[in-house]
Amino acid sequence: MKKNSSVIEKAKEHFGAVLAEQLERVERMKAGDAWTDYKKLRPVIIGVCPGDGIGREISKHSRRVLEHMLTKEREEGSVEFCDVPGLTIENRAKHKKAIPNDVLKAIKQCHVILKGPTTTPQTGDKWPNIESANVAMRRELDLFANVRPVKIPREGINWIFFRENTEGAYILGSRGIDVTPDLSVDFKVITEQGAHRIIRMAFEYAKENRLRRVTVVTKANVIKSTDGRFSRVAKRVAEEYKEYGIESDEWYIDIMTAKLLDPARRKDFQVLVLPNLYGDILTDEAAELQGGVGTAGSANIGKKWAMFEAIHGSAPRMVTEGRAIYADPFSMIRAGEMLLRHIGFAEKAARLDMALAVCGQFEKKLVMTGRGNGSTGDEMTAYLLDWIDRADLEAAWKKYTKENT
Ligand code: IPM
Ligand code: MG
Repeated sequence: MKKNSSVIEKAKEHFGAVLAEQLERVERMKAGDAWTDYKKLRPVIIGVCPGDGIGREISKHSRRVLEHMLTKEREEGSVEFCDVPGLTIENRAKHKKAIPNDVLKAIKQCHVILKGPTTTPQTGDKWPNIESANVAMRRELDLFANVRPVKIPREGINWIFFRENTEGAYILGSRGIDVTPDLSVDFKVITEQGAHRIIRMAFEYAKENRLRRVTVVTKANVIKSTDGRFSRVAKRVAEEYKEYGIESDEWYIDIMTAKLLDPARRKDFQVLVLPNLYGDILTDEAAELQGGVGTAGSANIGKKWAMFEAIHGSAPRMVTEGRAIYADPFSMIRAGEMLLRHIGFAEKAARLDMALAVCGQFEKKLVMTGRGNGSTGDEMTAYLLDWIDRADLEAAWKKYTKENT
């Protein structure tokens, strides 16, 4: 008994410190930063962190596409690319930090970041068990909205996921405790402010894009405090958007994963908003339906900074098996498309979006398999660049879209 009370005291102390930090974070959210106005920035600095594993390969291709599409802006000096080295597993392991201090400083000097996948160590592998660089960057830059589009034109599917990115089961994922050799406890956090800002962003997106439905995904029937709060906030926000003809429904995560596989129902979903871990899982499933996680990109948006990345990890096995050149660069190029849109180049982004659809979904003159029997990332990027520059891109895209829907 006596032994128990001392471990409980120690755990309480840890929990107290965690709560104090979270309450401070709530105060920071209440104070809030102003949104960056990219139109007022000259130059807009795009930092590139290649990451590791296949990241080194596929981020190179995405950068090549962006540099090509921003040739004029680079010459005029309104956009600048900046290398941010050091976000590699070797360097992070050396410093025993998710993001070494000097790397974080360099990242903060950029306005937006194009980030390749980074290896996330786990118990038992050869790296020190440091926190995920993704999770750390999302927290440090307060990138609260992880926006992940998935499109399957031939099925009329156009989903956009708003995954909460700074709370849920993730924010304290490296702060759980082994209370005794037999008992481990993790913490899950959802705040009023954190839920509200992501849910509002999802509804605003629906309003701006004249969409009619926002789907909220939780497990509020079982996880009553945190998911219960997310659900309550969503119901309140939904009320405000009824006058715009936007309807809202709530699904539990388990049945939602099933419904994404239901061809009769899935095209009815439009905007989905969900806490961190559910968003992580559901977006991998959605991406697989689109053609694989290698085709899906995402935006991590905060008020001050934004970071754009593939939705998948660094696939170290592809590298050890010598297959990195066969890794699909479309996930990182899609991230680039979202970056262009975010900093104010909507027309260029639309062009890139069309080229991605023509090459990846319609014409498919080249196909990637992740192996030597398919194309390389380099070839795929050249194919895409060729379409980007073609005068008939829009006409071809329209024709294909019509034929396929
Ligand atoms: C993602 C990834 C990351 C996450 C990993 C690499 C830490 O799976 O962006 O979805 O879990 O968020
Ligand atoms: Mg994931």
